[in-house]
Amino acid sequence: MPRLLLLLALLTPICGLALYLAPYARSQDVPFKLYSLFATTFDRKPTHSPDVGLLFEAGAREFRRKIVAVGDLHGDMPNAQTVLEMAGVVDSGGHWTGDVDLFVQTGDIIDRGDDTIKLYHWMDQLRDEAQAAGGMVLSHLGNHEWMNVIGMSSLYVFPSEIKTFGSIAKRQKMLSSGSIGKSWAANYTVTSRVPLHPALGPPNTDYDPALARSPLSHAALSFVHGGLAPSYPDLTPFPSRINALGHSLLHKLQARDPPPPHPPHPYPGLPEDATPSEHRLYATDGPLWYRGWAVDPEAEVCAKVDEVLEKTGTRRMVMGHTPDFERIVSRCGGKIVIIDTGICHAYGGVLSALSIDYTLTPTSERGWREREVVTAVYKHRREILADDVRELQGDFSMN
Ligand SMILES: *[C@@H]1O[C@H](CO)[C@@H](O)[C@H](O)[C@H]1NC(C)=O
Repeated sequence: MPRLLLLLALLTPICGLALYLAPYARSQDVPFKLYSLFATTFDRKPTHSPDVGLLFEAGAREFRRKIVAVGDLHGDMPNAQTVLEMAGVVDSGGHWTGDVDLFVQTGDIIDRGDDTIKLYHWMDQLRDEAQAAGGMVLSHLGNHEWMNVIGMSSLYVFPSEIKTFGSIAKRQKMLSSGSIGKSWAANYTVTSRVPLHPALGPPNTDYDPALARSPLSHAALSFVHGGLAPSYPDLTPFPSRINALGHSLLHKLQARDPPPPHPPHPYPGLPEDATPSEHRLYATDGPLWYRGWAVDPEAEVCAKVDEVLEKTGTRRMVMGHTPDFERIVSRCGGKIVIIDTGICHAYGGVLSALSIDYTLTPTSERGWREREVVTAVYKHRREILADDVRELQGDFSMN
């Protein structure tokens, strides 16, 4: 027994160091063995350190992570507040509760309602509050954000919304060089890969096919506004390839002189120096506009979905864009989840949020049980869309 104690005393600083470094390391740099050694050896203490807090919760050896996602908000602050509150992301004052590890919004915050400015600023506030509490907000640009930065500012926008900016010109300025445009450039992406487990690295770590033999290699979700089409040529490396295209295209759009609003002026289109890949990003089959996962027949969709999940290193794809006004739509056993339910009053859909509750629990010295519960949260009811349990044998070093 004294030998065991000696071993523990020696391991303590090593494991502490591993825990400290884990959030900074990319997944391939973190040996799974090191992580599992820590996980099986020590009781975790609750921590408020931002990086570590995201990875570990109080309560011995079980790991938990809670992700909440919300679809198209389209300028409706009161409904957005209701939705985030009922999903536990914010309190009644609109502040981050800390009960959720990651909050994801899949784009289309703008247009159809008058609260565009308020909503973007609120998302920025939540991003800061989340960061301070060890959580994270992941924001995405939808086709409506892109349409506006391209210059289609009067096609979908209500005159009352334009008034909140002052004028169309002021609105365009705020979406390019102003506070909203700066926030888009710094903190919004086209897509995300969100890990269920920290062994995969921080959010938006690229999927590395060399790690495919690890049982946790695909323990992640993708989020995007429209959809990741099987035919889309720029899927990999996921998600950095798509997000690099989004970043460069947004920069070109924000840097050009704002074109006169369309209509009545002609459709300005993408900048002249946009590359073919940037055009594909914004095309019908690109991640911002694709609707195939929502509208194609079940057999067709389910025959194609695994290929995309495989390539992107994920188990599920979550998207907005194609509304169902009654419910969150789950297809192919929850591999595809469509979360646009027309939350904005202009659509009169149902108020909804998606909750993903992940746990990894030790069952024996070398055995672990993974559980993912995917729940549609509505105002007065909840519906479990998937409850998947996997048994993992061995430790995390089995790759
Ligand atoms: C991006 O988010 C970070 C973290 O919350 C924040 O500190 C920063 O100010 C944001 N950047 C912009 C331009 O909004």
